[in-house]
Amino acid sequence: MPLRVVSVCLGNICRSPMAEAIFKDMVDNAGLADEIVVDSVGTGNWHVGERPHPGTQEVLRAHGISFDHRARQIQASDLQGADYLIAMDRSNLADIRRMGPTDAEVGLLLDYAEGVDETDVPDPYYSGGFDRVYRLVEAGCRGLLEHIREKEGIVA
Ligand code: 4NP
Repeated sequence: MPLRVVSVCLGNICRSPMAEAIFKDMVDNAGLADEIVVDSVGTGNWHVGERPHPGTQEVLRAHGISFDHRARQIQASDLQGADYLIAMDRSNLADIRRMGPTDAEVGLLLDYAEGVDETDVPDPYYSGGFDRVYRLVEAGCRGLLEHIREKEGIVA
């Protein structure tokens, strides 16, 4: 069974679909597509069924990263089925914890990033800043893949 890595934000239209696309790109480039499945969810339900926010689409296209996602809300089955639940900010992390126990490793994306002082990926929905969000998410995804490889014994 492949590992299941699920990124989590509030609306599942800005940050977590960006993390999903960037992380999937890294997994594909590492030749690990058969070993790691990537998905994303939101804790809220306002945007269920929507494609990523135009700002997320634009920055992903600018970096040549493909995406194919429709927003969905986190379900109990995600807590059971995921191996890694990766929150974009502390509020998302608290929401995941409130849903109950899970065997998944639950963490903050930027805790995996090297050389990044921030704890939370800022929410660009109202204030923009998608380029900065991209840089932070990219650093987090890079460190997360390294962490998973080490923990799971997936050698290069
Ligand atoms: P996201 O951004 O959590 O990164 O997808 C947001 C999207 C929608 C809302 C808030 C944040 N909203 O309030 O609808």
